[in-house]
Formats: sequence, C-alpha cells, structure tokens
Amino acid sequence: MPAVFNPARRLDEALQSAAASAGLPAADFAPEVRPADAQHGDFQANGVLPFAKRHRLTPRVLANQLVAALPADVLTDCTVTVAGPGFINFTLRTGALAAWLQDFGTREALAAGAAAGPLAGQIWLVDYSSPNTAKQMHVGHLRSAVIGEAIARLLAFGGARVIRDNHIGDWGTQFGKLIWAYRRHLDAAALARDPLEEFERLYKAGNAASEADPAVLKEAQQELVKLQAGDADNLAVWRHINEVSLAAFQEIYDRLGIRFDLTLGESFYNDKVSAVYRELTAADLAAESQGALVVFHPEHPRFKTQPFIIRKSDGAANYATTDLATILHRTEALHTDGVLYVVGKPQADHFEQLFLTAKKWFEKTGRTLPRLAHVDFGTVLGENGKALKTRTGDNIKLKELLAEAEARAFTLVSEKSGALPDAERRAIASVVGIGSVQYADLAQNRSSDYVFAWDKMLALDGNTAAYLLYAVARIHSIFRKAGATPGDAAAEAGASALETPAELALARKLVKFPDAVQAATAQLRPHFLCLYLFELAGEYSSFNTADKVLVDDPPVRARRLLLCARTLLILETGLGLLGLRTLQRM
Ligand code: ARG
Repeated sequence: MPAVFNPARRLDEALQSAAASAGLPAADFAPEVRPADAQHGDFQANGVLPFAKRHRLTPRVLANQLVAALPADVLTDCTVTVAGPGFINFTLRTGALAAWLQDFGTREALAAGAAAGPLAGQIWLVDYSSPNTAKQMHVGHLRSAVIGEAIARLLAFGGARVIRDNHIGDWGTQFGKLIWAYRRHLDAAALARDPLEEFERLYKAGNAASEADPAVLKEAQQELVKLQAGDADNLAVWRHINEVSLAAFQEIYDRLGIRFDLTLGESFYNDKVSAVYRELTAADLAAESQGALVVFHPEHPRFKTQPFIIRKSDGAANYATTDLATILHRTEALHTDGVLYVVGKPQADHFEQLFLTAKKWFEKTGRTLPRLAHVDFGTVLGENGKALKTRTGDNIKLKELLAEAEARAFTLVSEKSGALPDAERRAIASVVGIGSVQYADLAQNRSSDYVFAWDKMLALDGNTAAYLLYAVARIHSIFRKAGATPGDAAAEAGASALETPAELALARKLVKFPDAVQAATAQLRPHFLCLYLFELAGEYSSFNTADKVLVDDPPVRARRLLLCARTLLILETGLGLLGLRTLQRM
C-alpha cells in the first residue's frame, strides 16, 4: 500500500471512522491528531478528553474503545497506546517511516501529496502588497509583500488555483495636488533618475503651495475634479504617474520573487461603484446621513454607531466603496472560493465592517459570498521598540533596506568564504541578504509586532535564513564529496533499514513536513513552517554529529545519503514555499 502523505491527517480520519464503527456520535468528534513530544511517540490525539467530557464518558475507557475499533492498516503501520487521562499516542514503525521516505522522495511526489488536500480545485485570491502609487514603498510595505507571497505559495502547493492581485491605491485625492505640481514643476532629469522620489517631491511641492495660497488649493481641487470627470490631459498625466510607479514597484517585486497575476487598482472599479450604491440602498442596508451614504450594523457594539461610509458627502467614492465593488468583481468575474487581504492590523475595523456589509448584501441579493479573511500583521519595530524609522525620523525606503541587506550579507560572505570569486559572493549575498529579511518577517507569528535587528536576522545560528541556507549548502557539499546525486533511486535501492537513534529521529521529523505545511496553510501563518524547518535542520545536525554519512559500508552509506537527500528536498521545498531562494554553496 502506498504511504499516505500526511500521517497525522490519516490518523485523524482513522479515529473518526473508529468512533463511527464503535457506535459513538462521530460527527461531534474532532480527534485533533498533532505531532507529539518525542517521548510520547510521533503523533498524539488530543481530542478524546473533550469528546468524553461532552458525552459524559470515561476518557480512558473511550480511548481504549477507539483504539480497539481502529482500521487494521493503522495498526500495521503504528504502535498505538493509551496514555495519561485519555490521550492516544501513535508511533510509526520503521517500515512505515521507510515507506514514506520512499514514496515522497521527489518534489513532484511532495507536491502531488499536498495538492490532494481540501483546497484542491478551489480558487483563492490573495490581495497583497497593494501600495499606493506615486509614493516609495517603505519598510511598512515589506510585510504584506513577504507574507502574502508565502501564503500564495502555500495555497498553490495545497492544490488551490491562486490569483495574486495587487490592489494598488491609484485613485486617491492626492492626484489633485500632484497633477498641479507635475504641470508646473516637473524635473525631467530627476524623473529619469528616480521617478518615485520625483513624484514625492512634486506632491510635497503641491501640498506646500496649496497650504500657502488658497488660490493654488482651488486649482489643485479643480485638477482632481477634471481627472475624476475623465479629462483626457489629466488622465494622461495620471496614467504616466501610475505606469512609472508600477515599474519601480516591479523592481522590488523582482528581488522578492513576486509576480502578480492581476494589478487591478482602485481605479479599475470606477465604473463599478454605482451598482454598489444602488444595490445597498435597494437592500435597505445603506442610508443617507449628513449627505453621505453609510451602513450601520445595529447588532454590533461599535458599528451600530460608527458608520461604514460608502459614499462621501461630496459624492465621491472611497476606499470602502471600491472594496465592496471589488468583492463583487472577485465573486462574479473571478469565481473565487476565498479572498485573503494581507493588510496591517490598523485596518482591522475596515475589514470587519466590509465583511459584515458584504455578507448582508450578498444574503439579500441571493449571492454566495466567498470566504473572506483579513490576514493581519503587526508593525515592524526598530531596536528602540518604536516603529522602524531612519535616524532622521523618515520612513525607511524598501529598496534601500533590501540593498543594505545584500551589502551586509556580502560582508559576511566575504569574511567566511573570501576565496570564492567576487561575482559568486555577490550572488550568494543576494540570496542570503534578501532571504534573511523575508525569513525574519515570516518566522514569527505575523499578528505580533517584530523587531528589525540586522545582527539577529543575519546570524548563522538560531531560527534564521542563514542557518537554514547553510544547512542546505552543507548537504549539497556532502553529495559533491560523495560524487553522488541527491535522490538517486538506483543508489537508494541499496539502502539498509534505518537503525540508529539519530537516523530514526531524523526520519520521524521528516514525515511531519505535511503536518507543518498543513498547519501553516490552514491558519495562514507561515511561522509554523519556519519553526518546523528550523527544528528539522537541528535534527539533521544532531544526526550529522552522531552518525558519519560517508562510511565504507555501502548499505549504511546509502541509507544515510537517503536521509540527507530527503532533508535537502524538504528544506528546499519548504524554503521555496516561504519565497526564499536556496544555494548549493555558501
Ligand atoms: N492601498 C492600501 C494601503 O496602502 C491597501 C489596500 C489593501 N487591499 C484592499 N483591498 N483594501 O493601505
């Protein structure tokens, strides 16, 4: 029988069917099979106690009853014990471990195993990065891009069709002042040098002039009105500003390995907002209040008095209107099953109001709402515990931050591997530098703030990119030394059975990769995968210390190289899912 990709999920299902065949109310039973602390075996079912409690059963009796009803193939693959007040522990037998390593020995096999999960065939849209045009991306934009890309990759690995949508803010009121200044103060040389810098300068100039002179403010407002009315000249300027902004953003996306499928900015929805006003009013959800169109949620403690404004009193659409129109588009034109908004925590209220409004709107109009979730994240802090800024208090530009990461990594690589040619050291520094920034962002629970500390994120030990990339490079070097190729099936056919404690411990960690991916995907929290990869690298390092790989005895050497190859495969696959590149040599 072929091995099951995710042993934890398989055991979960087995316990569920055991409950049914024992005549228990299985529909109410969530076995909660999770990886266990090593002394308890590989997996542990935590759901027996709460289930027993709900049905006034004795937990240990219930646990034994479930074990007795387990399908036979589970007992072939695992030893099963009941422990403590009513936990069920599972330990995979050596043969089952070997079969898993055998069956999931290639990237394709891992991908096929993962893609057979519950996301298969679904369409998920990830709305991430989504900066405003005419401005530089700063460090605050890092998290959405990095977390969004990792989540997009995880969902795709899980079998979903993923649509990456950059919902850029390209239709703000800032365009009045910007166009005013563009017409009068554009510096062509500066534009060619650094367009976003020039747009920022123009915006500041327009703003200062409007503040100093009411006549200028009026002119700027006129420019905005003309733009919104579709004036051809202003549209041309606006288009130019957006094109140039996007090209500059793309340079950053390239460095982070991001490619959007769609870049549907707010302006894309200009002709789609009147339907929103019409439908929400007809459904009695929206009403006029002081000239604006607003939605209240009487059942909500705050939103019964805090309105969701969907049309401003001057008649203009706003962020909320566009987001409502966007939901309709993503439902009816893109047929999504789920939509994820990777946006910082300060927008929590906006999304809560948006989702509540959409839910009622769709219910009233007989539509099915896709699953909507705000994938929030905390702030990037400096080492002083405050939002990260430059010494002069300005926002740190993302492109400068990434350049600094590469420069710092280059210094480190040059110290460690000075003998490598300059170009190779630069290539390594790019992977390590950018990867360190990405990984530091992903390795912690995204909902928390995190402290941006260069020395910590570039460290060679600890839960860092450098540590994992180094583990990858080290395994590649073992294969170079052995004159062998990772995953060579003919060589692996000669492997003997796993035997030493270190071999078995490593194999036990490897088979838990699907569970880590599953946890990261289901909870949309990549740090679960980071933690797993870090622990796997640690297990590998213990194995390396305990057992020599390149021994003379061919079957022993073959089985240890097999473990090396699988560790390499899973580290590279896992890092790839997080959006990192990997290296063969460091
Ligand atoms: N442009 C917005 C900002 O910079 C983020 C947009 C997020 N996506 C969305 N559909 N609201 O804050």
